[in-house]
Formats: sequence, structure tokens, C-alpha cells
Amino acid sequence: PSGSCCIMLLVLVGLTEVPKNIPSDTKFLDLQNNRITELKENDFRGLTNLYALSVRNNKISKVHPKTFAPLKRMQKLYFSKNLMSTIPKNLPASLVELRIHENRIKKVAAGAFSGLGNMNCIEMGANPIQNSGFEPGAFKGLRLNFLRISDAKLTGVPKDLPDSLHELHLDHNQIQAVELEDLSRYKNLYRLGLGFNHIRNIEQSSLLYLPRLRELHLDNNRLTHVPQDLPNMKYLQVVYLHSNNISQVGVDDFCPRGFGMKKAFYNGISLFENPVNYWEVQPATFRCVGDRFAIQFGNYKK
Ligand SMILES: *[C@@H]1O[C@H](CO)[C@@H](O)[C@H](O)[C@H]1NC(C)=O
Repeated sequence: PSGSCCIMLLVLVGLTEVPKNIPSDTKFLDLQNNRITELKENDFRGLTNLYALSVRNNKISKVHPKTFAPLKRMQKLYFSKNLMSTIPKNLPASLVELRIHENRIKKVAAGAFSGLGNMNCIEMGANPIQNSGFEPGAFKGLRLNFLRISDAKLTGVPKDLPDSLHELHLDHNQIQAVELEDLSRYKNLYRLGLGFNHIRNIEQSSLLYLPRLRELHLDNNRLTHVPQDLPNMKYLQVVYLHSNNISQVGVDDFCPRGFGMKKAFYNGISLFENPVNYWEVQPATFRCVGDRFAIQFGNYKK
């Protein structure tokens, strides 16, 4: 290996453990699709220049608490498709992106992300985690932009996620309802995904905690009416309500009465696959929609 190499990508295959003597100027280390079972204390010794590490699709169930200590510049860690039951301890402070989809995580311990300041993205879907699996303070101190916990075992919106979140995706869970205080922490959200859950009810005023929300996905749930707060959401532009059990749409369900109250018009509303007769919905219902093609109605077929 030459010292003049500026970006060094190392792809290694056929492994049951992390090989020794990885060049210290390696920036990208790709160990995915191997049969590594464990990350040991000195596996990454000297790799102070490493920027991204992929151990995706291995059989890792154990990570030594000091494994990541040398990785002072690591920003991206790809850990999906392994056998971890918790988030690895002592993630590097420099980490920006963690993908740990499809493991066996049931618990996120208090302080699991302590020492990390600002992160862009955590993807931890397809883990068997329930609401009780998040210990209080699990995300304490972390500023995070994007979080996805899809395909898990959540029955409600977790209440103790980082309050900095701009995007939160909780689709394909078993969430039954959104209660008044559930979203009170997440004032910075601009996109919220709750599709493919079992939501029957969204408590009135619960969405008013999200004054900046632009996009709301509530498709494939069991809603019987349009959530009451929509007319008061000034910046909401996209709302998916298709595949629910909505049988009536009222003239004031989407738009405020007062002119100029809405700061951004809708550019996407989906209502297809609901038992509502679209010819019974008054055209004025959509007076704050940018153009008529933004509304997807379709026919009810079930
Ligand atoms: C749809 O709502 C009606 C009441 O409006 C209810 O009787 C029916 O059971 C609901 N269907 C489903 C699939 O939840």
C-alpha cells in the first residue's frame, strides 16, 4: 500500500473474522457478505483514517466495547443484516450515519448514543423492538436528523426520541392510535411516516405539536375520518390517507376557513381505497390545493 493513495477502498471476502494488517490509510473498508461472528478489541487498531465501514450481512452478535476506539474519523457504519441484540457500545463520536436494519435488537439501553453529538441518520428497522425496549434516556444528548424504525413491534409512537428530528418513519408497525402528547416532543418534524399501522384514531390537537410538518403518511390504517387538525397545519403539503376506512369527507376537513391562513398549499392528497363516494365530496373541500391533479381519489374497490 502506498502512502500517496488518497482514497483507499478495501473489499475483503471469504472471511470468518476481521483480517489483520489492514493498511492504516484505508478510508473505506468493505467487509460485507462474509461470515464474521464477532468484532474484537484490536480488529481496527491503527485505522485512524477510516471514514466508512461496512460489516453488512455477516453473523456478528458480539462487539467488544473498545472495538471502535481507534476509529476517530469514522462517519458511516453499515451494520444491517447481522445478529446484534443491542446497539454496539461506544460508537465513535464522529459517526454521522448508522444503519443497523435487520438485526435482533430488542433493547436500546440508556445512553446508547452518549458521546455522539450530531448525527444525520439512524436506520434501525426490521428489529423486534417494542416501545418498552427503549430505556428512558436511550437517545440522551443526541442530535439526530432522520430516524427510521419500520417493521418493528411498536404499538405507539415512542416518546423519548431525539427532539431534533426532522424526519421520523414508523411505518409497518402495530401503532393503534396517536394520543395527545405522543408527538409533543417532535416540534421540528417536517416529515412523519405512520403508514401501514393499525391507527383508528388521531386525537384532536395531537398534530398541532408539529407546526412545521410538510408531509404526513397515514395510508393503510383504519382511520374512519380525516384527522381534525389538518386545516390548522400551515405548511402541510402532502397527506396520504389512502387505504383507510374513511366514509365521509367534509368541506372543512383539509383547508382553513380564513383566507391566507394556510402558508403552503397542498400538492398531494391521496384518498383512494376509502369507502367514500367521491361525487359526494364538495369541490370547495380542496380550495387550498395547488392544482386538481394533486388529489388522488380513484374508486373504492373492496
Ligand atoms: C369501518 O368503519 C365502520 C364504521 O364507520 C365500521 O362499522 C367497520 O367495522 C369499519 N371497518 C373496518 C375494516 O375497520
